[in-house]
Amino acid sequence: MEVKSSHQMVDLKSQYKKIKKQVLASINEVLNEATFINGPSVKKFSTHLSEYLGVKHVIPCANGTDALQIAMMALNFQPGDEIIVPSFTYVATAEVIALLKLTPIMVDVQYDTFNIDVKKIERAITPRTKAIVPVHLYGQSADMEPIMEIAQRHNLYVIEDNAQAIGSDYYFSDGRVAKTGTIGHIGCTSFFPSKNLGCYGDGGAIFTNDDALANKLMMIANHGQSKKYYHDEVGCNSRLDSIQACVLDIKLNHLDKYNKARKKVADRYSKAFKDLSGVLTPKKSKYSSHVYHQYTLRVKSGKRDSLQKYLAEHEIPSMIYYPVPLYKQKAFSHYQPGLILTVTEQLSDEVISLPMHTEMTSSMQDEIINCVKTFFKS
Ligand SMILES: Cc1ncc(COP(=O)(O)O)c(C=O)c1O
Repeated sequence: MEVKSSHQMVDLKSQYKKIKKQVLASINEVLNEATFINGPSVKKFSTHLSEYLGVKHVIPCANGTDALQIAMMALNFQPGDEIIVPSFTYVATAEVIALLKLTPIMVDVQYDTFNIDVKKIERAITPRTKAIVPVHLYGQSADMEPIMEIAQRHNLYVIEDNAQAIGSDYYFSDGRVAKTGTIGHIGCTSFFPSKNLGCYGDGGAIFTNDDALANKLMMIANHGQSKKYYHDEVGCNSRLDSIQACVLDIKLNHLDKYNKARKKVADRYSKAFKDLSGVLTPKKSKYSSHVYHQYTLRVKSGKRDSLQKYLAEHEIPSMIYYPVPLYKQKAFSHYQPGLILTVTEQLSDEVISLPMHTEMTSSMQDEIINCVKTFFKS
């Protein structure tokens, strides 16, 4: 099969071309005003993002990992406290827990949504449990309503890792709708360039509706400073810089359109692969919209790696998010020795993410689709 277009997992160059004029003008303003740190663009973006999300406070910071760390620092957890996380996620979720000398407790995920299995959370709760960190993996919300109910019953905090799902909606059973990241006590996100709302470097943010918590989060992100040179807490230095805030403020205006474009690509993939035996397309849950940070297939019968090889031979990139369960990683295996979570094991062997971005044309996508189909039919 001949593949003509040059395929990429994400196409940030073509996306940039469409907003280049605006971005350069806005960055130029920061350069001319020399407002590199804490400039007006940071405040402006934070306000716009809080309006978009419908959350009271947005605290910008340096990256999504810092956002999670600052959230944990603000909640006064003590060494040895247990924090429940899904076992199928990016390392950052568990890393900050370990870094703060807390104990990550990994809970299996659902096979069809890839998100934490709510039914398994309660079994993992002990007297040392302090929080649950649901991750909205690949762009779709974890089931937040029962998670909040469990947390309330056990007096636990909920910190949402929303790095992959910004713009996604969660639908409550009473008809209420809320943006992911605004439902728990604290929400965290990443503005890594390839994220649905990504900047041109590193960036992150923390969300909360709680005024006291917002103050504390802000303070911790700024050296624990209550006023200049008065340090009430041990904090860190975690800032979103003004240039990144300019980029994000412009891209925020396009976020819904970008997410719609992703959905269109995902729907086309799913339609094309619907009847392909040996492949499962991503499930859309009833309680969440999907913003497809990733389009991730499950490949049965041990064929995932050979599919990836076949795609690579045809110059089509793909990624395995994530090939090794967190509890099997050297850095984390001592927390729950011998732990085997069957769904996570299976997903680690079966998942493959295909190119997914806002600039995908139908002809580009047809090449990818045909390549996948040819692999399964040959
Ligand atoms: C689920 C998840 N959590 C946390 C992070 C960390 O974000 P960052 O790379 O901005 O530190 C990422 C992004 O890579 C992520 O995908």
